[in-house]
Amino acid sequence: MDKLFSLFENADPFKTWWPAIAAVVFGAIIMVRTLMSGQRCPNDNQIRDQIVIVTGANSGVGLETAKALAARGGRIVLACRNMAAGERMARVIKRELTCQRIGADAEGEFFVEARYLDLRSFESVHRFARRITGEFERIDVLINNAGIIFGSLGGRTVDGYEEHLQVNYLSHFLLTQLLLPHLRRSPSGGRVINVTAHAHAAAKIDFDDPLNVGTWSVKFHARDAFAHSKLAVMLATRWLARQLKGTPLTVNCCTPGLVRSTGHLRNSPLMSAISVKLMTFPWMWLFMKNPFEGAQCAIRLATDPKLKNVSGEYFNDCEIAQSSLHGRDIALAKKLYMQTIKELEKVTKLTIDKDIEGETSPLAITADSTEESHHRKLALEAPKKKHQGKQKQKN
Ligand SMILES: NC(=O)c1ccc[n+]([C@@H]2O[C@H](COP(=O)([O-])OP(=O)(O)OC[C@H]3O[C@@H](n4cnc5c(N)ncnc54)[C@H](OP(=O)(O)O)[C@@H]3O)[C@@H](O)[C@H]2O)c1
Repeated sequence: MDKLFSLFENADPFKTWWPAIAAVVFGAIIMVRTLMSGQRCPNDNQIRDQIVIVTGANSGVGLETAKALAARGGRIVLACRNMAAGERMARVIKRELTCQRIGADAEGEFFVEARYLDLRSFESVHRFARRITGEFERIDVLINNAGIIFGSLGGRTVDGYEEHLQVNYLSHFLLTQLLLPHLRRSPSGGRVINVTAHAHAAAKIDFDDPLNVGTWSVKFHARDAFAHSKLAVMLATRWLARQLKGTPLTVNCCTPGLVRSTGHLRNSPLMSAISVKLMTFPWMWLFMKNPFEGAQCAIRLATDPKLKNVSGEYFNDCEIAQSSLHGRDIALAKKLYMQTIKELEKVTKLTIDKDIEGETSPLAITADSTEESHHRKLALEAPKKKHQGKQKQKN
């Protein structure tokens, strides 16, 4: 030990370049890490007793978002398809927050609960929405966070759609429509936050079939399907914001950035090799965010009173960002939105016939003017006509 101390005492840092080189390398690493970690949510506002739904909140970015919002006083619903994981995470969040808050007497102070939602099925979306609207009188924040890349179903969902399209876009679209009346009841002005990705910029999209349910879809690789679904999320955000203009309800989208240590790449053929994981780990650590850093944008969108009147925007690193050209194309946004309404009308009617006969189409809640109101009428009339038909038969 004495030898080591005398070595340090007698060391001359100017005799060799190594200490300087090591300091520069260390500084550069810290600088890159700091830059890549992105901006933190610039406020610490409380959202006491606000009801927040986060889809896909049992892991990754969704889990960190839920935890942060629970810490700020929100009543959080983790919307998960894996209930065991969801309930476990609800317990973990409550325990962690109770431990952090000295003086908090029990886990009961925090409301964090898991509810079942499988976005691969519209029926599950309907069931979830029915349960939530029965349980809560209003919703303050809806965070459509769940998402997949390299889906595992081999392509199609039970409803017949390409898996990325349904999980990342269609089901969230339907969920939002179903919950809009409850979001409208929020005294703080309801907020919808859709999680998209930088990858939207690489999306291929056909103006005549923006939803990509035609023949072109089969030519899509999983990467294309992911990028397309995230562009669809962005476009629908922009058009819904227009429809909600003049109401206190806002809808925005955000990207978490590139985030490591989540389940996002779990089905990636490349990343499943252990050797690749080991080789890429240092680079991922350096250049990618951790899930807490990835959650900051959604946290700001959910909590910042300055964003009360901001709607239809795309956020990156907690600030409004510019999207790709397609992502700003309002004509394309309208076309996609209308095509989505038409597609969902089919399944909505089916679900009404099967499950919630007598209730009006939730899609009827959305649109208000011109072409939209035409669709609204269609959605309202179709189930009624069917009902009248059934009555005539009975008579
Ligand atoms: N990580 C990134 O680099 C990155 C980059 C850009 C965008 N994003 C987006 O950020 C969001 C969060 O991703 P993440 O990185 O946190 O990945 P993650 O850890 O895999 O989280 C995704 C969540 O979505 C859930 N989910 C998947 N399919 C579902 C379904 N059919 N029904 C209900 N929930 C479902 C997952 O549940 P299970 O655990 O049950 O599968 C999981 O909780 C996603 O929208 C993703 O596309 C991530």
